[in-house]
Amino acid sequence: ATHDFLIKLLLIGDSGVGKSSLLLRFSDDSFSPSFISTVGIDFKLRSIRLGDSMIKLQVWDTAGQERFRTITSSYYRGAMGIMIVYSATDADSFNNVRHWIRNIKEHAAEGVCKILIGNKCDLKEKKVVEASRGQALADEYDMQFYETSAKADINVEDAFFALTEQVLAK
Ligand code: GTP
Ligand code: MG
Repeated sequence: ATHDFLIKLLLIGDSGVGKSSLLLRFSDDSFSPSFISTVGIDFKLRSIRLGDSMIKLQVWDTAGQERFRTITSSYYRGAMGIMIVYSATDADSFNNVRHWIRNIKEHAAEGVCKILIGNKCDLKEKKVVEASRGQALADEYDMQFYETSAKADINVEDAFFALTEQVLAK
């Protein structure tokens, strides 16, 4: 099949929030409970159909660890849509969302599409960030918001499709 569009997306957020797991769920429909922290940068491809168009998504997965910040920042420029991910079980990762947004302002193209993701919503008993706080923060920056679980496969596909549709609508 021919691809009408190539869209480049980028995943950012603190280490351990589940960026690679979201991408593995989206690209391969699988999940691994072991934590293999990303070194530098990685990417996966998946083609989707939206209406009459075939869209090839190239999704860049960045390392959350601080020591890779120089290399990961260099990938912001080419991104058409950015997923900012925190974990609903990790208050620090939520508080750092503003820091990630500053990084976008500094390194990404002006007006780049952004979406906020609160991952690990399956861990109800460990949850420390309520969805209402995620939604309020997203509203403040005019972003869409999804609570997801890479593990339980909740809203992962919807979040990627929503960001892609936002990019296409620009
Ligand atoms: P860095 O590569 O270091 O930036 O981390 P990351 O954001 O890519 O995190 P990763 O996807 O490697 O996930 C970290 C840990 O959280 C792993 O042990 C995953 O199995 C687990 N995890 C990821 N998503 C979920 C989820 O939705 N629910 C649960 N219960 N665990 C998850
Ligand atoms: Mg990773």
